[in-house]
Amino acid sequence: MFSIVELIGKKRQGEPLADQEIRFIIEEFSADRMPAYQMSALAMAIFFRGLDDRETATWTDAMLRSGRVLDLAALGAGRVDKHSTGGVGDKISLPLAPAAAAAGVIVPMVAGRGLGHTGGTIDKLEAIPGYDAALSVDAFKRVLGEVGCCIIGQTEEIAPADKRLYALRDVTATVESIPLICASIMSKKLAEGIEGLVLDVKVGEGAFMRTVEDARELARRMVAVGRQMGTRVVAFLTRMDEPLGRMVGNACEVEEAVATLSGEGPADIVELTEVLGGAMVELARGVSFDEGRARIRAALADGSALDRWRRMVFAQGGDLDRLPRPSGAVAVRAGRAGVVQAIDGREVGLVAMQLGAGRARREDTIDPAVGIRIDKKVGEAVAEGEALATILTGAARHVSEAAMARLGAAFEVGDRPVTTRPLVLERVG
Ligand code: URA
Repeated sequence: MFSIVELIGKKRQGEPLADQEIRFIIEEFSADRMPAYQMSALAMAIFFRGLDDRETATWTDAMLRSGRVLDLAALGAGRVDKHSTGGVGDKISLPLAPAAAAAGVIVPMVAGRGLGHTGGTIDKLEAIPGYDAALSVDAFKRVLGEVGCCIIGQTEEIAPADKRLYALRDVTATVESIPLICASIMSKKLAEGIEGLVLDVKVGEGAFMRTVEDARELARRMVAVGRQMGTRVVAFLTRMDEPLGRMVGNACEVEEAVATLSGEGPADIVELTEVLGGAMVELARGVSFDEGRARIRAALADGSALDRWRRMVFAQGGDLDRLPRPSGAVAVRAGRAGVVQAIDGREVGLVAMQLGAGRARREDTIDPAVGIRIDKKVGEAVAEGEALATILTGAARHVSEAAMARLGAAFEVGDRPVTTRPLVLERVG
């Protein structure tokens, strides 16, 4: 038995917490014996003082044990998932899970919803009429056994302590703490019963981690926690300055994912699917990364990834033929000719959210047909009056001048030629 007040004070002074103290904190919080104000104070102390690798691993393990840990061993070896720290236009999980399954990986994916400027995989999938992201664990296992991949939303049973803590962090300005982000992500992922995990740590203006140094530290932490807990983890730092692909929204991102699965995806989406998928095959099947990447490329080219996708969506009740279509399209045009120098992904994500493609608060509802098409990406030339982006409308056809102006301002058009920078910056682990 410890005193919570003393433990908060200990962390406030920058002292490490012992393993038993951390387990006590998570148990008390989970059992409603530690009030939200004390956990908020502790989260702020951790925000400033940090947790070392041992503390982070113990914190992760305690949150993981607050709920159910799936046992998927009966499905066989090769269970590997991917997680992204979240970005604008990031629909990679949609083509990736079926492509990896076609290449011999078992992909039990528990994905999240969007909040703020970033979208969420589950919101995108739920744009498909009938898609059931709330399968029971038994149904999840059945689809995994039949198709090799299944994507569901976080259940109440997986890492409930994280769910409560995340809600507190969200309203106490303590989300951006590297050890807390690490423990939050890893507690959920390690509860999936996986043997390996590939992480896409986003860096840049549109991401949680604005600098390469912070992203590298988060990646290093997650790889270390995985190692301590017996799961192989590989992380890639990838750029998130401009939106990924050309579509930002929900139904329109599903369409772009289907194009990728049909061999017609935008270059950045294809590259990321190949790189992350290549590492998944490497971890699952013990082949080299290059061989893994070649297998993903083949699955995208020969239709086997598309076939897995259709089977997964069908098995989860979705009807792709009834994907919502936009009610109209409104172009945002360039005020001058030039070359697109930069696109503020965060701003594009926020405009999409305001238009109804995302939610500012958890209880907000989404219009799946709403989206933004990026007509000109960074480095592309634009003529005066040509469309930089197009707003795809949903139930509300009217688009305010303010939204159009804000979207237009997210594009910087200039005269300098733009040298393309690599999308994948480095690999950790
Ligand atoms: N995503 C999570 O799941 N948790 C965090 O803390 C941040 C991003």
